[in-house]
Amino acid sequence: MRFMRILITGGAGYIGSVITEELLRKNHQVTILDNLSKGHRAAVPEDIDFVECDLLEEDRVKTVLAERKIEAVIHMAASSLVGESVQNPMLYYKNNVMASISLANAMCAAGVKCIVFSSTAAVYGEPEKQPIEETDPTVPTNPYGESKLTFQKALRWYSEAYGLNYTTLRYFNAAGATEKNGEVHDPETHLIPAILQVAAGKKPAVEIFGNDYPTRDGTCIRDYIHVVDLAQAHVLALDAFKQNTVYNLGCGGNGYSIKEVLEVARKVTGKKIPERYVARRPGDPATLIASSEKIKRELGWKPQLQDLEKIINSAWQWMLKHPQGYNC
Ligand SMILES: NC(=O)c1ccc[n+]([C@@H]2O[C@H](COP(=O)([O-])OP(=O)(O)OC[C@H]3O[C@@H](n4cnc5c(N)ncnc54)[C@H](O)[C@@H]3O)[C@@H](O)[C@H]2O)c1
Repeated sequence: MRFMRILITGGAGYIGSVITEELLRKNHQVTILDNLSKGHRAAVPEDIDFVECDLLEEDRVKTVLAERKIEAVIHMAASSLVGESVQNPMLYYKNNVMASISLANAMCAAGVKCIVFSSTAAVYGEPEKQPIEETDPTVPTNPYGESKLTFQKALRWYSEAYGLNYTTLRYFNAAGATEKNGEVHDPETHLIPAILQVAAGKKPAVEIFGNDYPTRDGTCIRDYIHVVDLAQAHVLALDAFKQNTVYNLGCGGNGYSIKEVLEVARKVTGKKIPERYVARRPGDPATLIASSEKIKRELGWKPQLQDLEKIINSAWQWMLKHPQGYNC
């Protein structure tokens, strides 16, 4: 495998920072472009080429791509809060559709032909069957999922007209941490870090949104994937660039209900972690479990860190070492 010159949009964010670690391990040359609206400057290694820029600055993005002779883009930058998207779809169409189109335009203008796009399980909406396969219907139940699907659809036409090749990766729930990088969002809406904030005494109780879903214990069921396994899938997608395809990325199995995740977190941390039941969140499907057979079969992806206890433990160890997130 030869090294590539790669631009990561959103590389100062949670998943982008771990993908950067993996790409550097494989000797790729990495440029990170991020507007730092949600990301952390401290998550970007000191010696990495970093450009503070918004994707909507199309001419500037084009110059960055052209000057650095970028060969492929991993497009992570996005707004990604389901609840916020229901309240404020305008933001999601602007930041996830318009900004992504601006990036695609800049890539076409600079002659960059390969994009790996971060999509989400939210494109499937309320699926008819589990585990979800890539060929299942995409009927998003919130503007976040819709915005991701809209850009993926645009990629098809950009590919036909301008030869822009894409691989779309639909992540289920990323979780866990490495030695260097962990999850720090404000507000933190993702279940595992939200539970750990309670374990660390930063919040009084975990809010559980609804306990009347048609699931085994009434709480939502999700599929958790270690962020390192997720990052490795990006490296594979770049190595074996499959033109214009979609892969799910999750661990499959039976998934975990919110109550089950809470129990594992209590075991890992040794803390009581109180919970509090509140109303359902609009746009939250009952169950989302991935079939990742396609990427295993076609790219040889082998998740190594599927065990939920290990996933939670890595996030907990990171939080213990970084009680103020990237500020210490
Ligand atoms: N975290 C998950 O479990 C999960 C699940 C499914 C899909 N995803 C997708 O993965 C990607 C990364 O998720 P994350 O959890 O690391 O998010 P994150 O918020 O930690 O990172 C996103 C980064 O993008 C940057 N950004 C946002 N808008 C930008 C813009 N217009 N221009 C430049 N930079 C911009 C932010 O500053 C941030 O650093 C997103 O596209 C998200 O939709 C995440």
